[in-house]
Amino acid sequence: MFTEAQLYSPVTTGADGDVTVHLSDEHPGVHDADYRARRNAIAALALGYRTGEPVPRIEYTAEEQEVWRIVSAELARKRAKYACAEVIEAANRLGLPADRIPQLDEVSAKLVPLTGFRYVPAAGLVPLREFFGSFADRVFHSTQYIRHHSAPLYTPEPDAVHEILGHANQLASPRFAALYETVGAAVARITTDTALKFLADVFWFSMEFGVLREHGEIRCYGAGLLSSYGEIEEFREAELRPLNIREMGTRVYDITHYQPVLYCAESIGEIEDVVGAFFESMTDDTVAELTAPA
Ligand SMILES: [Fe+2]
Repeated sequence: MFTEAQLYSPVTTGADGDVTVHLSDEHPGVHDADYRARRNAIAALALGYRTGEPVPRIEYTAEEQEVWRIVSAELARKRAKYACAEVIEAANRLGLPADRIPQLDEVSAKLVPLTGFRYVPAAGLVPLREFFGSFADRVFHSTQYIRHHSAPLYTPEPDAVHEILGHANQLASPRFAALYETVGAAVARITTDTALKFLADVFWFSMEFGVLREHGEIRCYGAGLLSSYGEIEEFREAELRPLNIREMGTRVYDITHYQPVLYCAESIGEIEDVVGAFFESMTDDTVAELTAPA
């Protein structure tokens, strides 16, 4: 999930119980009545899900499976070239199918033995406190819909490709999974909206859009980069800055464009020492200090 309020298509339930996903005017599927009906049906299944119940399975259409095949093959090729070794090894161990969309319970069945993370369904935006807080229990809220078939390599919103090929491939690494858990533990300590937003923004510039130097090359580990056909390559054009928690937590960014500034770690150990240590110790007070005017 991105930071995400502006990005997810809003989902509403009418008085008659009908669930509607409101696509933006620029969404590639906005004029496709079948796609819109499909999105409404998938969102309704997620909204009906209750903790402890079996996760709803989606009967994906041939068209949706074809989208997955195309984007999965392209991202695997790009991952080999641009992702860091930790992610490549994690993705190999996870072994997601390339020929069809995995159901969320299949993703969980593969992830749990590796790092204990489980996937549960989300209709769209999950409140930030719930989304990040659930990492403490190694639970990840994931959408199940797929981008529109007219643009298989593009999506204006996080879809199953982002959630699974981005986040699950990252969450298959014990080191990255441990970082997510520290995020969840931090949410239990903080109470202010300022601290929650700060946490979300540090997460954005690390676990979503983080890069690191590996054997002299810049490689990505962020889920947002790993799942973006265009940005996984273009990130090499970004201005790279050293990890800086204050900057990462306060930087204003535009989620609709490629990120012009990215924060580059020198190693995974540095991500753990700087970003992980921050999540481990952050409180409302430390954020108040970091965001206080100089
Ligand atoms: Fe995400």
